[in-house]
Amino acid sequence: MTLRYLTAGESHGQALVAILEGLPAGLPLDLLALHTELKRRKLGYGRGARQTIEDDAVEVLSGVRHGYTLGSPISLLIRNRDWPNWQTTMAVASVADPRAGADRTVSVPRPGHADLVGSLKYGHHDMRNVLERSSARETTIRVAIASVARQFLGACGIYVASRVVQVGSVQDATPLDAELASLNARVDSSPLRCLGKPAEQAMIAEVEAAKARGDTLGGVFEVLAFGVPVGLGSYVHWDRRLEAEIGRQFLSLNAIKGVEVGDGFASAGVPGSLAHDELLPAPHGRVAYASNRAGGITGGMSTGQCVVVRAAMKPISTLMQPLHSVKLETGEVAEAHVERSDVCAVPAAAVIGESLLTLTLAQALLHKFGGDSMAELLPRLEAWHAHTDPA
Ligand SMILES: Cc1cc2nc3c(=O)[nH]c(=O)nc-3n(C[C@H](O)[C@H](O)[C@H](O)COP(=O)(O)O)c2cc1C
Repeated sequence: MTLRYLTAGESHGQALVAILEGLPAGLPLDLLALHTELKRRKLGYGRGARQTIEDDAVEVLSGVRHGYTLGSPISLLIRNRDWPNWQTTMAVASVADPRAGADRTVSVPRPGHADLVGSLKYGHHDMRNVLERSSARETTIRVAIASVARQFLGACGIYVASRVVQVGSVQDATPLDAELASLNARVDSSPLRCLGKPAEQAMIAEVEAAKARGDTLGGVFEVLAFGVPVGLGSYVHWDRRLEAEIGRQFLSLNAIKGVEVGDGFASAGVPGSLAHDELLPAPHGRVAYASNRAGGITGGMSTGQCVVVRAAMKPISTLMQPLHSVKLETGEVAEAHVERSDVCAVPAAAVIGESLLTLTLAQALLHKFGGDSMAELLPRLEAWHAHTDPA
């Protein structure tokens, strides 16, 4: 079984839409939980005004009946509440039509954004045509898709959570405790989605200082998945390695410039004796790990331990104190385009990161256990757990 999905929609267009295909039939779907995930994406200190405008209510148009998936494509729709203010700018009709207008054009590209290369590549004179789709607004509908997949993972005993570990220059080195199941509940109440209170206050101060300067910030977030069965992914082909798909997914998120699994970059600087997870005998002839430096993946396969992924997000590229740029029609030096924008979106990116790991694991789970219905898939998963889990 393969999970496939496609998203569409402009940031200030009428709506975001998606089709998700490949989830088994018979999965009970809690529609309220879809809304909960979308609300979590809007959280976080440093977000712009857009988050207060949009309520991001998701409508399920197909593939679900009487609260259960049908096995047919699931289509989702999120209407942009801001659309009435943009229907002239973003009209589908030609500009000759009185319902359309060529206002809010963008002629000075923002350094660090898709504006310049996107306009060259697609031949757009108005870079609004680029920024409307390159905007991270697209991730709203990906979170909606993933919140369906998250319920599939939940039915399979897998739980995904995240936290922010760095904003700008402030790091939160609070170690994770064993209470992973409550991690999201704990960090969702923090405006920065981090565990350490002193770090949280320092991050807030750094966001405020950046905002006052008209500047922006990036950071690092961590996504964890536990309950993952051993053996998802494979070593036999490069494109079946679990980290390969994790890298692809995380780097598909706007502004993500680095991804690591487990100790990642830090493991490059320590000897092997401090880099690997020693093996211990466990009851019933099984084997346990003394640590989880590998972040739950070895040889392209899940080890059965917690999967730990970290991603680095660069600072937001729309600055209220704009960077130098060029007005494309005249070639003159100009200040970059300014558009309503976030100062820091790392907490939101962490929630989106959960969605990306969710989609990766759902795909890998379907590859390994397959089945057209949950009734077919779940017994295979249970039998595998009985065969592989430490007693
Ligand atoms: C959750 C989230 C929110 C973002 N918000 C903004 C924003 O408000 N303004 C902005 O210029 N960029 C924002 N970005 C970053 C841009 O989308 C991103 O830098 C742009 O697509 C260029 O792509 P690249 O950075 O991957 O090269 C956001 C990214 C994420 C993940």
